Formats: sequence, C-alpha cells, structure tokens
Amino acid sequence: MPFESILVPSRVYEGQKPGTSGLRKAVKVFQQENYTENFVQCILTAIGPKLKGCTLAVGGDGRFFGKEAVNIIIKIAAANGVGKLVIGQHGILSTPAVSCIIRKYKLTGGIILTASHNPGGPDNDFGIKYNTENGGPAPDGITNAIYQLTTQIENYSIVPNLTCDIDNIGVNTFEVNGKDFVVEIIDSVDDYLELMKSIFDFPKLKNLLSANAAKPFRVLINSMHGVTGPYVKRIFLDQLGAPLNSAVKITPLPDFGGGHPDPNLTYAADLVEQLRKSNFDFGAAFDGDGDRNMVLGAKAFFVTPSDSLAILGNHLNDIPYFQKSGIKGVARSMPTGAAIDKVATKLKVEIFEVPTGWKYFGNLMDAGRLSLCGEESFGTGSDHIREKDGIWAVLAWLSVIASTSKSVEQICCDHWAEFGRNYFARYDYENCETEPSNVMMKELEKKITEASFVGTKFEEAGKTFVVEAADNFQYTDPIDESITKNQGLRILFSNGARLIFRLSGTGSSGATIRLYAESYESSSEQINLNAQEVLRPLIQVGLKISQLQSFTGRTEPTVIT
Ligand code: G6P
Ligand code: ZN
Repeated sequence: MPFESILVPSRVYEGQKPGTSGLRKAVKVFQQENYTENFVQCILTAIGPKLKGCTLAVGGDGRFFGKEAVNIIIKIAAANGVGKLVIGQHGILSTPAVSCIIRKYKLTGGIILTASHNPGGPDNDFGIKYNTENGGPAPDGITNAIYQLTTQIENYSIVPNLTCDIDNIGVNTFEVNGKDFVVEIIDSVDDYLELMKSIFDFPKLKNLLSANAAKPFRVLINSMHGVTGPYVKRIFLDQLGAPLNSAVKITPLPDFGGGHPDPNLTYAADLVEQLRKSNFDFGAAFDGDGDRNMVLGAKAFFVTPSDSLAILGNHLNDIPYFQKSGIKGVARSMPTGAAIDKVATKLKVEIFEVPTGWKYFGNLMDAGRLSLCGEESFGTGSDHIREKDGIWAVLAWLSVIASTSKSVEQICCDHWAEFGRNYFARYDYENCETEPSNVMMKELEKKITEASFVGTKFEEAGKTFVVEAADNFQYTDPIDESITKNQGLRILFSNGARLIFRLSGTGSSGATIRLYAESYESSSEQINLNAQEVLRPLIQVGLKISQLQSFTGRTEPTVIT
C-alpha cells in the first residue's frame, strides 16, 4: 500500500537545546504533544542536502519511551525522504554499537535514544542524541543548528499511518510519496561482536575466562539492567565461555529495575558488595547505554577511570588492534586525572587535553592523531569507533590481565611504582538551585582570574598549596581550530595539585556542581594511601575558595567518585 506524508502544524517548545550529550529531559517532557516530533524533524532538517535517500541507524538503551520514539522516527524519516533506517531489534542498540554500525556501513548518521546513566521509567529521563557520519556525537556546530531550528519550527512532515514491526529481524520496504523507504531490523549485537573479535585476541581471552580453563579468572559483570545485557551474554558467556554466574542484571528493563544505571561506587553498590564478600577476581559495570564502565579488582579494589586510562595506555601492546595500528596519540578530558600524561611522555606520543564530552576526541581520531582516550566520568575508548565503549574497556583490561598474569591490584600498584600516583576524586553536588550555582561560578571565576590570585597560599591540615595558575578552561581544536569556551574553572597549584569546578552538562533539572581534585605523589611511601584522605585538605581549600556551602546550602556532596 502506498503511503503519503502530511504536514502537521506545530509550535515551538523552549529548551530543546542538546547538552553535553544530546537532548535529555524528563519522559513527561518528551511525551508532550509534538515535542519529540519537533526535535526529530529538526535533527533531520539539520542534515541538509544529504538527507534525501540517506541511511540512518536508530536504536537505544531500552529505556521507557524508547519504542514510541523509534516509531515516531520511522514515520518522520519516511516523510522526509530518508532512504533507509537500520534499527536494532526491539529498538535496542548500545551507543558504541550505533557508532560501530554508522562507520561499518558508511551511514550518514544515527539517532540514539538514551539518557545514558540517568534513571529511566515514566517519572525519569529520556534522551535523543544525533551522531554524524564518523560515528561520533554531533559537534557543537550541528547541535547548535538543531537547536536554532527548534526555535523556529512551524510544522513537521510525517506519515501517520506507517507502522513497522521492530521486534523481528528483516527488511521491510514501503512506498512513500512514490519512492522506496526501507526499514531494516538487525540483530543488536552481531556487528559489534564482529568488531570486538577484530580488535582482541578472543582465543586468549577464552583461555582466561572459560569455565574449562585450568584456573579460570572469575569475573562478575553487572549490566545494571541497561543495554549491555545482550552484548555481555553473547561476548562473555557464549563466546568467551565464562560461567553463567559471571554476569548479572543482563536483561534490559525500561526502568533499569528501579536502579540508577551509572557504574560508580555509589550506584553500583551491589557489585561492590558482591565482590567484597565473594572471591571474584574482577568486577565491571556499565551504564544504561553501554558507553561507561567501572572496573574493580578482587575484594572490590577500585580502579579510578583516570588510572584505568593510564594503565591501558601503558599496556596497549597487549591488544592486537594496537600491535597492528601503532599508538598515534592519547588524550583525556581536562578534569580527568593526569596519569595518562606521564604514559604519553614514556611512549613519546602526543597528549591532548580536551573539554568534557566525547565529541571533542573525534576530530583528533579522524585526523589519525589519537588512539586512546578517556574521561574521569567512567569513559574509556579508542579510535575503533567514535564513542566511549564500556565493553571494549573490559576486554582491554582482560587482555592486559591475560598478558601479564597479574591481578588488577598488582597492575595498579606496579603502575604507581613506575609513574607515581595521581590521586583523584570528584565531589558532585547534584540538583542544586540553578541561580545560586551560577552566581557561585561567576564569583569564583572573578576571584581566580584576578592577577593577585596567583601566588596565594592556602594552608589546610598541615599541607600548603600555592596557586600557580588559574583560568576558565578554553580549548582550540587543533584540527579545525574551533574554539570552545567556559569549560570549567581551574586552579593549578605549584605542587602539581589541581582543583576544578564545573557545572554538569548532562543533568535534566537544577544544577549539578562538580568539584574535581587531583594531587600527585611520586615517593614510594606516598603511593598506597587512601585517596579520599589524601585529597581531603585540597578539597577543603576548594570549598573555602568557592564558598560552595554558603551559595548552595550543601554541607556534603551527593556522590563522591
Ligand atoms: C556524557 C558524555 C561524556 C561526558 C559526560 C560529562 O557522559 O558522553 O563524554 O564526560 O557526559 O557529563 P557532565 O554531567 O559532567 O557534563
Ligand atoms: Zn552513557
């Protein structure tokens, strides 16, 4: 049956401004009449002349409202002359898998339905993110263009009666406005699995994990009821032969089982607890859409994301992909602990410090200058795709373990002994009132950028910190020379310590203030201390300089990572 599109009059919704990672709002906001339709139309319009006949990937983390959003995208894409949609079965695709599929099949882009690590369900969050043809999150130029369009939209095109079964794998062809429109439903895991097999030595990993191995290395992987469940099952259980009790919470649920799908010590407390009381050698968790990871050793030994990045950097040669491609350069986001910088010096490769947000790594990778990068926000990845990749990070760690035959803790201790240790902690003050938080940041910026601030001495608990430099971080992309401003207030001290204040770009309500603290110790007596204790005086200095407590009324952070 031939279909015809119609034009539906709409009205502008304020605030459809994509943040660090797409448009993220409460489900109820997306459910407003025409709200989701408007945003999808604006994404498509922003594609411009390449839209007609193009192919886009679509999928998400399985959260509440995901299937409804897929159906809206099908109807609007059909009406706008898109040639084909490649959709994960049941609407499920992890963020790394979307990036993989865009690149593998040379698609124009992809639409990812996720609010990442934010809770899901009718009273929680939903999100829509657009990735471009390199497989990475749309750069600021494109998200700004989408936003501009949302402020002017008057109508959208849709084929209201076109429906497609997204639960069965297969190719569906429709005639829309006299042209073919194809919807292909694909297996959610196949392409990603094939990519992982091309990067890692699966037989070697199987030898490490398999229930039949002489002394199996016992892993506990927790998918937090997010999208990684089917990927974990196929890769770790079916392919690598890990015993069935190696994976938990591997059924994606629309509300993540009521949990907060963010892999950190607070929200993955059940993983921490299980590792403490049993004898697993390794633990890992992923966020809702599968791009974040947390790695733990036996007895829940915690590897900070900043250390994880540095350690992987120092061991890339244990991974076949890098043996073949070489190491082109490494990078971290500005607030991320600087342990990787020391590895870069050893490897004699370039190191880049970019603003928070995975999109800033993309240009460097496309230009062949970046192999490995990571962020303190539990993101680790490489140039195999253009998103951070949780499962990749775990396979990378297991490759290092298989090659070195060391425990996670031993690998970390050896790393600190060689390079010194960058202690790192992040304090989050979530959902503060927006106005006072903004004022605090303004006042703080004023204070730290006064010339007299340099040289100021702070004493706290017997430690002395002397300001060496301070600024509001700004980044010039070395490839396209675009400038990104206002990326966090930095205070650098002469002993190598740093304090950074940033407002989160991913929250869906209120303001979240992040305070990042880092200090460096190289002597062997100072590298095995408790990070929170080591950093407490520095954090006190930060709280004093910023007056955070009096601006926000908060005496304690909501989360410490
Ligand atoms: C998302 C992005 C990351 C980024 C993080 C920052 O997860 O994918 O690349 O590091 O957001 O979040 P924030 O809340 O600190 O802006
Ligand atoms: Zn995520």
